[in-house]
Amino acid sequence: MAVYSDIVIEHFQNPRNVGVIPDADASARMESPVCGDLMEVYLKIADGRIQDAKFRTFGCGAAIASSSMATEMIKGMALAEALALTDERVADALGGLPEQKMHCSNLAASAIHKALQGYLEAHPEGQPGK
Ligand code: FES
Repeated sequence: MAVYSDIVIEHFQNPRNVGVIPDADASARMESPVCGDLMEVYLKIADGRIQDAKFRTFGCGAAIASSSMATEMIKGMALAEALALTDERVADALGGLPEQKMHCSNLAASAIHKALQGYLEAHPEGQPGK
């Protein structure tokens, strides 16, 4: 049986950054290839940094906790730093995830990467000084 850390349980019960940013500079929807769960992420970006992040996750408790933690982690990050966010770092920040739930933290990291890649394709100058 899966055992969750207190941090996972706390973020699942009180997720941060739930919602939509209507005028987001970047957004993405990602479906887990493992289970079909969905995450939508919305980002506000200025001066090459993530100013705000929100999400809606239609998925398991570990995915909701991972989405909450990942959006907390990337707020204030430079774009390159956020692109380097890995599922392992999200899971570590949550105090670990059972091996069979690592794909849940990967959903959050992948959705963030997809939003940032779309943003950088639309803004190839890389955004410092936007
Ligand atoms: Fe689907 Fe966790 S079981 S993201």
